[in-house]
Amino acid sequence: MSSPFRIAPSILSADFARLGAEVSDVIAAGADWIHFDVMDNHYVPNLTFGPMVCHALRPHAKKPDGTPVPIDVHLMIQPVDALAAAFAEAGADYISFHPDASPHMHRSIQAIKSAGCKAGLVFNPGLGLEALDWVIDDIDLILIMSVNPGFGGQSFIDSALRKIEEARKRIDETGRDIRLEVDGGIKIDNIARVADAGADTFVAGSAIFNAKDYASVVAAMREQLATAVKA
Ligand code: DX5
Ligand code: ZN
Repeated sequence: MSSPFRIAPSILSADFARLGAEVSDVIAAGADWIHFDVMDNHYVPNLTFGPMVCHALRPHAKKPDGTPVPIDVHLMIQPVDALAAAFAEAGADYISFHPDASPHMHRSIQAIKSAGCKAGLVFNPGLGLEALDWVIDDIDLILIMSVNPGFGGQSFIDSALRKIEEARKRIDETGRDIRLEVDGGIKIDNIARVADAGADTFVAGSAIFNAKDYASVVAAMREQLATAVKA
């Protein structure tokens, strides 16, 4: 049976001068998704890349046998809707946004799904899961931030573990196939603990892209995940 776990390297920590090659290399190293961090220097104090870069990377996001690899777009932007549609156009598979960045969260979810993408909600360390009360049956992904958004290379915030457990409970109550992704400070030495709390999808930026050998980090993460209770 295939593992329920997905490893999603964040290209925020990749070499921006060679993004296409970095995407192909990290997929060849075993990555399941590509995590694409969009920052607008408004919702978060940093600025990254837009739909045109996603469009340019789309052809590189595929396994060696040609199977497409999901592009997991994390919108740290405000407003959300217009750019979400542009990312759908640009080839995104998942588009997640922060509920506190949209005045009409339900409409933003509808806009992402009507553009043909899977919709996700992102919860910052200081934000509870109340928004799920009214939209959990409309989303495909819950993204729990284990760092404050804006930068790679930060340390994992332990309180995220409690939130992951609560999100896992909520997802299991729905009986729906909603991915539970965790983002920020994920390393070889803490990924099993995060999986034990109930996560099934793991963003890792600096842990992978700061390493010499991407494949050895991905393999070590998978080895750790195999020890998790949910494996
Ligand atoms: C932070 C981003 C994260 C970040 C993860 O705002 O959303 O995806 O790139 O980087 P690491 O794994 O280095 O914490
Ligand atoms: Zn992210």
